[in-house]
Amino acid sequence: MDTMYWEDNTLFLLDQTKLPIEVKYVKLKTYEEVAEAIVSMKVRGAPAIGAAAAYGMVLGVMGYRNDQNLEVYLKNVYETLKNTRPTAVNLFWALDRMWKKYLEVKNQTFEEIANALLNEANSIFYEDIELNKKIGAYGLEVVPENASILTHCNAGALATAGYGTALGVVRAAFEAGKLRKVFADETRPLLQGARLTAFELLEDGIDVTLICDNMAGYVMSLGLVDLVVVGADRVTANGDVANKIGTYSLAILAKEHGIPFYVAAPYSTIDLNLTSGQDIPIEERNPDEVRKIGDRLIAPPRVKVFNPAFDVTPAKYITGIITDRGIVRPPYKENIKKLFGGK
Ligand code: MRU
Repeated sequence: MDTMYWEDNTLFLLDQTKLPIEVKYVKLKTYEEVAEAIVSMKVRGAPAIGAAAAYGMVLGVMGYRNDQNLEVYLKNVYETLKNTRPTAVNLFWALDRMWKKYLEVKNQTFEEIANALLNEANSIFYEDIELNKKIGAYGLEVVPENASILTHCNAGALATAGYGTALGVVRAAFEAGKLRKVFADETRPLLQGARLTAFELLEDGIDVTLICDNMAGYVMSLGLVDLVVVGADRVTANGDVANKIGTYSLAILAKEHGIPFYVAAPYSTIDLNLTSGQDIPIEERNPDEVRKIGDRLIAPPRVKVFNPAFDVTPAKYITGIITDRGIVRPPYKENIKKLFGGK
């Protein structure tokens, strides 16, 4: 099942807010519609929002009406897409890559510019699948035989162009016959684990057991987890990792139980401009996401809410970062620089 695809000058996006109840693609024809889809999380997951935004730039250029300077117009498209979600660096990475391509070809004809931007968006998309397969292959090294893996949120095919990062490792282990089972945290408030990870793994015939977020510690204490693998929205130069809210607690629980804790992420998630996780902007979302489950109110409507969408796991809790260039281990600052210094 494709997270998104491009056909007839339209971006078809699998509406993830409807999963697993309904499998429905929305047809996006303008960059404003792409921006809205990212904000409302019809598409979500760091690499997937990067790829969607890249196609958003293509829709932007296709909607150009010749009544203003193309560069000024496109910069506005870029800014609109950039201002959708603040934490995942893949969004900015993809938009910057599209902008760089535009600057390279800006003196060519309009048609050539539009084609070059479409080719670049396609490269971002297809490259991501390749990166995830490499992450999966490297990740195999840390997966023991007959492994039980716990994961959080959804860092799967649905969060990327395909195959997934954390779930890329799970898939590679499954394909290699090393996987026994997966525990998926439900991941409140928006339930990406319950709605998306459980759905995606079941579709592939992978043994998955759903648990509420507050069950992870007990499941670990029973000896039911061999390793934890999660995705990332941003990795800073010192190895700190922003990922879905709850990842930090999971990392501490894993440490206490002596369970290896791995993060899986492509190079596009690494942000060498930030020295530590304290500098990562953490998105806060609508309080109703906590007051409700779906459309159903589960708390007094006026109760105060704190709803950060992500947290930061300090590098000291992370056993290794599985990337498309190999597994990075401590000391992170030196080793990240070695592998990604020339990104
Ligand atoms: O709010 P979301 O659903 O976009 O958050 C997604 C995550 O936190 C994922 O774990 C992360 O983006 C990695 S996806 C390969």
